Amino acid sequence: MELPQIRFLDPAHPDPEVLGQAALLLQQGQLVAFPTETVYGLGANALDSKACQRIFEAKGRPSTNPLIVHVADIGKATDLCHWTPDADRLARHFWPGPLTLVLKRKPCIPDEVTAGGDTVAVRIPNHPVALALIRAAGLPLAAPSANRSNAVSPTLASHVVQSLGNRVPLVLDGGACSVGIESTVVDLTSNPIEILRPGHLSCLDLEKILEKSVATKNGQNRSAIARSPGQLARHYSPQTPLEWFDSLTEALLKREFWVKQGEKVLLVAGEEVPDGVNWGGQSSFWAQNLYRAFHEWDAQGWDRVILVPPQSDQKWAGVLDRIHRAAQSR
Ligand code: TXA
Ligand code: MG
Repeated sequence: MELPQIRFLDPAHPDPEVLGQAALLLQQGQLVAFPTETVYGLGANALDSKACQRIFEAKGRPSTNPLIVHVADIGKATDLCHWTPDADRLARHFWPGPLTLVLKRKPCIPDEVTAGGDTVAVRIPNHPVALALIRAAGLPLAAPSANRSNAVSPTLASHVVQSLGNRVPLVLDGGACSVGIESTVVDLTSNPIEILRPGHLSCLDLEKILEKSVATKNGQNRSAIARSPGQLARHYSPQTPLEWFDSLTEALLKREFWVKQGEKVLLVAGEEVPDGVNWGGQSSFWAQNLYRAFHEWDAQGWDRVILVPPQSDQKWAGVLDRIHRAAQSR
């Protein structure tokens, strides 16, 4: 079997020859995996329905789950959807960045991208390799996370190769993703505006810019899940069984219990714990390391991982959402 080609690109000076090779593949309707600031994306020409079908085949993704379209400037976004004053405010403040806007689609967008719905999700990613690739191809790129459906999202090029293997001809390696969890998805077609998927940018961040309230269900609400169908339970699970606790005391008791059963248990908390790992009190650090750790724990052969994320404000919504999903009983 042919292996995917992995090409390293220095984010500060992406090699134009490699970008040209990737752009040509995209223009020919092929797939290219590329880094963004959140997670690696599996890109295809968003205006080519056949190319987009390849994404669903490579991921084993149900066709009912719509794709995010990545562009390099606001003008291109307005070509794809019906732009609104709220979209403009958010885009001017947060783009390029980890925020996806759901808006009414224009007819140029194929049904594969929208899963047949009347809205389309768009964002400008904040990664120099992603932006250079979009510009070199001269195309909007539909790109879900570059993993098989229901597997953990990739934050390193090696994760993409582990998950997709030869299903993707070219992987651009731009190093580790700085945010580490997927973008905040916000539906601007609903009233009130609603966060469909929490992420690095919180409800408060958006409210400050919009000067009005934004609804949030932390991804737990049924209607939000139906409208953002990627939000299935256990969407982000590693293979290693995972438990989480608010209380460190409870977590320590549970660890003792499992150790007595003969299990090899890893405990990760936001503070110093005997025989535990301290990830500290910053949500950005937890986000950056969570998926990478999911991949590593699976490789290291722990029987169980116990997480005690520091309990605090809305900044933690994205991280807690991913932890809660990953810990759903299997
Ligand atoms: O950070 C990210 O968003 C990454 C990088 C590659 O940009 N992409 C990503 O894509 O996470 P994916 O396909 O794994 O997740 C896209 C999410 C899904 O929950 C999907 O249901 C939702 O966005 N979505 C896409 N289009 C939508 C639409 N028109 N309406 C509602 N939700 C939509
Ligand atoms: Mg995904």
